[in-house]
Amino acid sequence: MPMLTAAEIQRHLCAPILAEVLHQIDSTNSEAKRRIAAGLTTPLLLVADEQTAGRGRLGRAFASPPSAGLYMSLVLHPNCPAEEVLPITSAAAVAVCEAIEELTDLSPKIKWVNDVYLGDRKVAGILTEGITDPQSGRMSAVIVGIGINCTPAALPEEVAAIATSLAGEGGRVHRPRLAAAACDRLWKYYGSLATRDWLEPYRSRSYLTGKEVVWRRGEECFQGKAMGIDADGALLVNTVNGSVRLSTGEVSIRPLGQVPPFSK
Ligand code: BTN
Repeated sequence: MPMLTAAEIQRHLCAPILAEVLHQIDSTNSEAKRRIAAGLTTPLLLVADEQTAGRGRLGRAFASPPSAGLYMSLVLHPNCPAEEVLPITSAAAVAVCEAIEELTDLSPKIKWVNDVYLGDRKVAGILTEGITDPQSGRMSAVIVGIGINCTPAALPEEVAAIATSLAGEGGRVHRPRLAAAACDRLWKYYGSLATRDWLEPYRSRSYLTGKEVVWRRGEECFQGKAMGIDADGALLVNTVNGSVRLSTGEVSIRPLGQVPPFSK
């Protein structure tokens, strides 16, 4: 695995963003928050070789073993209402796919909301966090955290079964180039937040469209056929009771031959 250095990332990066590499950190998103609290006001790309407390969505951990992945957080300062900037998470999923496509022969898909898949296994995830200015109520900073598994590594048992890596699927990458490529694309989409230029590229890579899915709301379990993604990035699902629009949460592929209620 080639050395991960700020100079190497910066060499490939076109966007006007400063890159910084950390050998080891708890979480690049947490470090980004500390930098913002300390007064950071310019765009910053924080990249780590290892995270000791990598965080995922829904309070989960994100396994981040040394030199096996790309763990990075892009800090932006949009100063706009949250609803205008939070769709950037979907843009980040597209940016990651496009970067992988540029550097490998692989064809990643996006599993709504923002997981990147190769085949039927997850290769990358995104965790976006916002900082709201208490006076204006506007989002003064946003942290787009991206984790990409680059090489096979010892992962916790429950993750290993559902995860894969770029190299594991035949796509070895130069991590600094991957970081720069994903960041450049995300920067481009950040510049077109209002027009949501990433929506069509997102739809065309949708992993769930056409598949039977299940999801939970509290104790209840639902199922239906995923039909596509609407203009706000919500998942449209046809159920026996009509069409449903899911704007947040998580869905799974329905296990073949099973109907709800599923055992956990
Ligand atoms: C998910 O799969 O639920 C999201 C995973 C996001 C992981 C990245 S790695 C870099 C950044 N720092 C973190 O602690 N999390 C994100």
